[in-house]
Amino acid sequence: MKLGVAILAAGQGTRMKSDLPKVLHPLADRPLLRHVVDTALELDLARFCIVHGHGGDQVRLALGDLDCDWAHQAERKGTGHALLQALPHLGDVDRVLVLYGDIPLIRAATLRRLLEVARQASLGVLTAFLPDPGGYGRIVRDHEGRVRRIVEEKDASEAELAIDEINTGFLIADRVALADWLGRLGNDNAQGEYYLTDIIAMATAEGRAIATTQPEKSEEILGVNDRIQLADLERRFQARIARDLMQTGVSLRDPARLDVRGHLQVGRDVSIDINCLFEGEVVLGDEVTIGPNCYLRDCVIGAHTQVLANSVIEEARVGTQARIGPFSRLRPQADLSDEVHVGNFVEIKKAQIGQGTKISHLSYIGDAQVGSGVNIGAGTITCNFDGVNKHLTRIGDGAFIGSNTALVAPVTVGEGATIGAGSVIGRDTPPHKLTLTRAPQRTIEQWQKPVKKRI
Ligand code: UD1
Ligand code: CA
Repeated sequence: MKLGVAILAAGQGTRMKSDLPKVLHPLADRPLLRHVVDTALELDLARFCIVHGHGGDQVRLALGDLDCDWAHQAERKGTGHALLQALPHLGDVDRVLVLYGDIPLIRAATLRRLLEVARQASLGVLTAFLPDPGGYGRIVRDHEGRVRRIVEEKDASEAELAIDEINTGFLIADRVALADWLGRLGNDNAQGEYYLTDIIAMATAEGRAIATTQPEKSEEILGVNDRIQLADLERRFQARIARDLMQTGVSLRDPARLDVRGHLQVGRDVSIDINCLFEGEVVLGDEVTIGPNCYLRDCVIGAHTQVLANSVIEEARVGTQARIGPFSRLRPQADLSDEVHVGNFVEIKKAQIGQGTKISHLSYIGDAQVGSGVNIGAGTITCNFDGVNKHLTRIGDGAFIGSNTALVAPVTVGEGATIGAGSVIGRDTPPHKLTLTRAPQRTIEQWQKPVKKRI
């Protein structure tokens, strides 16, 4: 059976009070609509169409890489009218699944269950039992419990309003029957709209079976209408990620104080302290520990490495058994080998750091190739920029750089060389020798402290 998916996304989103179309507002850095699309793509689908309206060009542009059809609903005339716009784009699929661009937490597993229960029926509806069903269409069943129709809240009687089974909006329908039903919809109702929900009564009138199922958690069917709901869904989504991580064996000090905006890949026995934010693609090896208040974006951290409190790592790679932080900053193309130690207020950019090298305090290492077993003293700076161009600093294996050294690039410090503290090194230094540029220390014996003049 060929499956087509239609995503309704033509709503204006007035209550967002935004120039950005509602379905492009981000949830964990991904547009709401993208979440729905990604979930749909987990299904085995043949065709797929998004119905856009307000801000349509912007929406298409934002999802530009997507291989799908777009239907335009120029005027917002109701969900039935919106779906009708999608039908011609779905070709000869057997069944049509309806999703919503502003309901991002729906799970593929739930949709698969809906497809499954409706395998023998012309229509399947995802419903939910809510203690407070206000705002939703209600599912009206007969004495035998068969679904008869859906009544919108604004059209419902007192008795119907008391029904606690609601229409989530998600449904699956036989494509040929659906085309017929949608073509016959009227708009004689409280809102003057073409209600998609009216197809249920049409199916019942034809004596067709209507299957129903429910999502595991009711958060799956929550929509976004304003920024308060958006923030609420963000927390729910983050809680879901935290739960998944813990299930795969990650220890989280507080699952409520973790944010993942992208994809976090983890080895065994990783532990993460509070208030950490992970963006893009982050890979943490076995037994990595992340201290509190860390920000990691697009990076790979090797096994058994400790990242201590308040560290920032972006587009960098760290080897195994390394120690980063507290208060370290690794910038793009920082490439640290195994067992490297980087301490507080150290910034590293576009630099390779060899195995076991220590840069423990207050340094800037940029555009550099640093060997293994190097010790870089506090306050060492690679002067990589002459105001116009960037230049390379090379430091050989086993070198010792004294505190407060300025390395004026391009420059090479030889293997095993020692640089005296406070030096300004502008020329290459020989291996295994002490080089320093410090002015000799002297004491002025005759010196006297000045006395204040009398006026
Ligand atoms: C709809 C259902 C209601 C259900 C509820 C669940 C109908 C008539 N009612 O009501 O039974 O309980 O969803 O959330 O279907 N849209 C368009 N074009 C339109 C109208 C809507 O694309 O002309 C899209 C919206 O962008 C939105 C979705 O369809 O994503 C639902 O529209 P909305 O107006 O929120 O429907 P409800 O009145 O909430
Ligand atoms: Ca709605």
